[in-house]
Amino acid sequence: MYTALQHLHSYLAYLVLLGLVIAIISAVAGSAGNKPFTDSNRKMALLGLIPTHLQWVVGLILYFVSPLGASNFSGAAMKDSVSRLYILEHPLMMIIAVILITVGYARAKRAVGTNKGFRAIYIFYGIALVLILARIPWNAWPGN
Ligand code: HEM
Repeated sequence: MYTALQHLHSYLAYLVLLGLVIAIISAVAGSAGNKPFTDSNRKMALLGLIPTHLQWVVGLILYFVSPLGASNFSGAAMKDSVSRLYILEHPLMMIIAVILITVGYARAKRAVGTNKGFRAIYIFYGIALVLILARIPWNAWPGN
């Protein structure tokens, strides 16, 4: 169970990054084209939303199954930068990123037919991507 979830979380991370990059590039291009945000542009934004939501759920379960997650919590572990990354910084930052992506998508969805949808996507998804990149455990990924 633990190993399967660990692998799933590791592979889904590629889809998360790829989906976000495609959604952001397509929103920047759409915005530059000065066209209205359409339903197909909204579907493009789903490429960023769906893998991130899946990853969030898998990550949450993993947090309670992994020896690096909740079970590792202690004062001593919080003083160690790698342990603190898994116990606190990674989960917290990823949850903030998922919230930003959800808000960006919801704003864009309401803006179908106007040209404001693109901006909502590239700003909210862009900030979320920076946060995700800042707190991915690069010491372990994509190495194994
Ligand atoms: C968009 C969201 C997320 C991304 C992109 C992401 C990405 C990653 C990556 C790349 C790893 C390293 C995997 C490896 O060792 O190969 C990892 C590990 C981990 N993540 Fe996430 N994560 C996300 C959300 C979350 C959330 C919300 C939680 C918990 C609430 C979480 C908990 C963990 C834990 C506990 C590990 C360590 C697993 C282990 O090796 O035992 N992640 N994550």
